[in-house]
Amino acid sequence: MSKIVILTGAGISAESGLGTFRDQDGLWAQHRIEDVATPEGFARNPGLVQEFYNARRAQAAAARPNAAHEALARLESDHAGEVLIITQNVDGLHEAAGSRNVVHMHGQLDRALCHACGHRWPAPKVMQPEDTCPECGQMATRPDVVWFGEIPYGMERIDPALADADIFAAVGTSGNVYPAAAYGQHARRMGAHTVELNLEVSTASRDFAEHRRGPASEVVPLWVEEMLMA
Ligand code: OAD
Repeated sequence: MSKIVILTGAGISAESGLGTFRDQDGLWAQHRIEDVATPEGFARNPGLVQEFYNARRAQAAAARPNAAHEALARLESDHAGEVLIITQNVDGLHEAAGSRNVVHMHGQLDRALCHACGHRWPAPKVMQPEDTCPECGQMATRPDVVWFGEIPYGMERIDPALADADIFAAVGTSGNVYPAAAYGQHARRMGAHTVELNLEVSTASRDFAEHRRGPASEVVPLWVEEMLMA
């Protein structure tokens, strides 16, 4: 029974109304990465960073999964082998669609983290620099998202899954951020069939054996049907 690993990026949530990072008018055209997505930016101006993630948390809470998220949930429930989603997305749309086997390698908007004691808990809708940790009481709370310069979550699950995958698919990711950008190449070297499902050519396209171009809500359900027929 085949093991399928799927890496997802912002492109899968675009049709749910959540902005991507690097497309025209994407988040990184409106905000400087070093201000809102680095530990140094947070140390300089925690209020600005909390505001940025408060806005994104509100958008994500209002968003609904689209046909691509739903198809991947169907794949997990109907495929006889293992299906693992590795997502770079901090929204909860895979879970909202019904996926259970999901690694959030860049963290989650609906979680909070204490950078003093490491405690994690469900984030309130609005986080502020004055908030205190429910565990240690320190004023050291931050969104539980992974910033540039920090180590992604779940590597202990991701590395063996890539080595073991029969099929590796990447959906809606531009291939600019490591380590995720190298997963296609890595899985292919370890023997997986690799397929990229993306609106356009990405930085990592050459690492994939097969390409499906188009909006995720169209190409992902078709690919999932094929996987379930195989
Ligand atoms: P990007 O914004 O870099 O790339 C989104 C990709 O999705 C692009 O290749 C688009 O062409 C594609 N795309 C857009 N709309 C699509 C659609 N409807 N269907 C299919 N594809 C579509 O987003 P990511 O690759 O996810 O990290 O970015 C990776 C990381 O960079 C993020 O997790 C975030 C960011 O900085 C951190 O903040 C640490």
